[in-house]
Amino acid sequence: MKFSIAPLVVVAASALSASAYTIRFVNNCPYTVWPAVGKAPNGQPDNSVRFGARLDSRGTTSFGVNDREIGIRAWGRTGCDGNGANCATGRCNGGIVCNDSGITSNCILSEYGWGDNGPQWGGQRTFWNLSRAPVNNGPTLPLNIPTRLTGPDGQTVACTGSSCPRDQCFIADNDFGAVRNSALGGTFTHTFCP
Ligand SMILES: *[C@@H]1O[C@H](CO)[C@@H](O)[C@H](O)[C@H]1NC(C)=O
Ligand SMILES: *[C@@H]1O[C@H](CO)[C@@H](O)[C@H](O)[C@H]1NC(C)=O
Repeated sequence: MKFSIAPLVVVAASALSASAYTIRFVNNCPYTVWPAVGKAPNGQPDNSVRFGARLDSRGTTSFGVNDREIGIRAWGRTGCDGNGANCATGRCNGGIVCNDSGITSNCILSEYGWGDNGPQWGGQRTFWNLSRAPVNNGPTLPLNIPTRLTGPDGQTVACTGSSCPRDQCFIADNDFGAVRNSALGGTFTHTFCP
């Protein structure tokens, strides 16, 4: 009998809430990583979307993001204190959850944003990438943790060495070969130390 009720619940939930994708963090490093998610379209911090956690070696954690969001960024922090603050790399203003969307995190990011190139080009998609592109003409962002990002459809990009391929990760703003896009929804896996 319980199976006759479950589908009704699912229909009601999807009618009330917009669809979402999941950012799943996997820590394959031998050390603890503090993953974070923030929103900063055009570099403007917006705390309406944010997440932070502590992830010991071999741990995983996930966070859901509305498909329509733009300027979503995720990264890993290392060497944080017991409050998830004052991290050695990837640090933000705030504690385990950042107050500034990580705009000064100064490390490799996974980035996600809604886009619609029109019906002949697949309609609404999530555009995503790994990025070490400089901020405000500064230096290339450091690779603080070797990183791989896999989309919901299995497309994968990675930056695991200091000279990571420019069709895998933005090193400069015009490395458009690093851009990927996928159907809305699903799960993105951001792996530390793949
Ligand atoms: C971050 O914001 C929280 C509340 O939103 C506040 O308690 C905390 O002091 C802030 N931290 C910093 C470092 O600004
Ligand atoms: C990476 O993708 C995000 C989301 O689509 C976008 O906002 C960002 O500008 C892209 N990064 C670069 C360096 O173009």
